Amino acid sequence: MAKGKNTTVFFCQSCGYESGKWMGQCPGCRQWNTFVEETVVTRSAGNRIKMTQRAENKPATLSEISLEEEDRISTHMQELDRVLGGGLVKGSLTLVGGDPGIGKSTLLLQVCRNFTLDKREVLYVSGEESLKQIKIRANRIGDFNGCLKLLCETSLEAIQEIIRRTKPDVVVIDSIQTMYREDVSSAPGSISQVREATGVLLQLAKGLNISIFIVGHVTKEGTVAGPRVLEHMVDTVLYFEGDRHASYRILRGVKNRFGSTNEIGVFEMEASGLKEVSNPSEFMLSGKPEGASGSIVVCSMEGTRPMLIEIQALVCHSNFGIPRRQTIGTDFNRVNLLIAVLEKRLGISLGNCDTYVNLAGGIKIQEPAVDLGIAMAIVSSFKNKAIDDKMIAIGEVGLSGEVRAVSMVQARVQEAKKLGFTTCIVPFVCKESLKEITGIQVVCVKNVGDAIAYL
Ligand code: TYD
Ligand code: MG
Repeated sequence: MAKGKNTTVFFCQSCGYESGKWMGQCPGCRQWNTFVEETVVTRSAGNRIKMTQRAENKPATLSEISLEEEDRISTHMQELDRVLGGGLVKGSLTLVGGDPGIGKSTLLLQVCRNFTLDKREVLYVSGEESLKQIKIRANRIGDFNGCLKLLCETSLEAIQEIIRRTKPDVVVIDSIQTMYREDVSSAPGSISQVREATGVLLQLAKGLNISIFIVGHVTKEGTVAGPRVLEHMVDTVLYFEGDRHASYRILRGVKNRFGSTNEIGVFEMEASGLKEVSNPSEFMLSGKPEGASGSIVVCSMEGTRPMLIEIQALVCHSNFGIPRRQTIGTDFNRVNLLIAVLEKRLGISLGNCDTYVNLAGGIKIQEPAVDLGIAMAIVSSFKNKAIDDKMIAIGEVGLSGEVRAVSMVQARVQEAKKLGFTTCIVPFVCKESLKEITGIQVVCVKNVGDAIAYL
């Protein structure tokens, strides 16, 4: 094939799989009908962007590499610092993904503000909003000092030129779907544009030791190239999620080359931007009814952080032949399984009852450690007997009704104690690993029946 010739390639919009011909099913991710045709220009090697400092590159031993304090810079947002693994690493590429309107631009503008207060050079590149629109947003957030540089640009060549010239410490690209490279012929937002653009940013970040944040949209229709394609290329992937109707937002780390993943940061969207929620348990439990049946508090681990959540169940007589079962925030099939365990092992007949389970606050939890809480809430509502307000339940429930071990019991019990709970039901098998904690009574149970006896 001649150099510089236009060729067409087919890309999977879901995972970025590349193929010379169209296929119905993607061999990479097994999705159907995801291939789209794109024109790509094969570049000759001379056009490639060269890494600066390439001449100095030579192999080094581990002992020769010095880690300075300065290698991580604090964003002055504890929640974000934790998700990043203790601050932003210099020369790293971070992808912030999430649904439109969730607050990505707001979060990053606030981060930029904090960096400029530290006298760092920050460049915020927006391909979506005009300078005026950014100013309106900035006015809501607070005072900015003069150091933040804003740029409305979508051409990556121009952005690259400015970054090379001004060498800022931190760059924000909002969003990658609007950026394009002139030598790639497909439209902005297509897989090849997004991938090529990220490639350029990656070289800039590593070559010039600049930390770059990239904003990426996720759409369910798959019309815009999903940022999932980029996950392999960047150092850190953060997803910003939450119910658009609820005010809190969760920032979740799903990939991090510099820290642990599955850490979360909790924020609340207010009229003046995002506020950190440093004690999410307290936030989640606010408004919990007292002395109501069908309500219990459980503890779920989000990364290294325990989080207390209220589980609500409502069991009422069914007017139809087939009982209705509905869950919000937890796995539907898991609840069905727990209902079956209660019927078979405890003889509680729920066959003619509608059952609804809700996790208060609109949060979603998949962890099996909340099983015992769900089972107890259902029984409490069924018997119309309130559970002690100062009690929490932790444990996974097996099909024989046994309460199985969960991880990090100590941290969970400690969190319950911190928030004033006096009794904690834990699996019997965790008894050994649990150290004495004063001020909270720990009850060890072997099966669901034992736990129900504490109602
Ligand atoms: P935005 O950051 O524009 O979302 P994204 O970049 O992820 O698309 O935030 C969008 C929402 O946040 C918008 O609906 C308005 C709301 N918002 C506030 O409630 N308070 C604020 O101070 C700001 C700036 C935005
Ligand atoms: Mg935005």
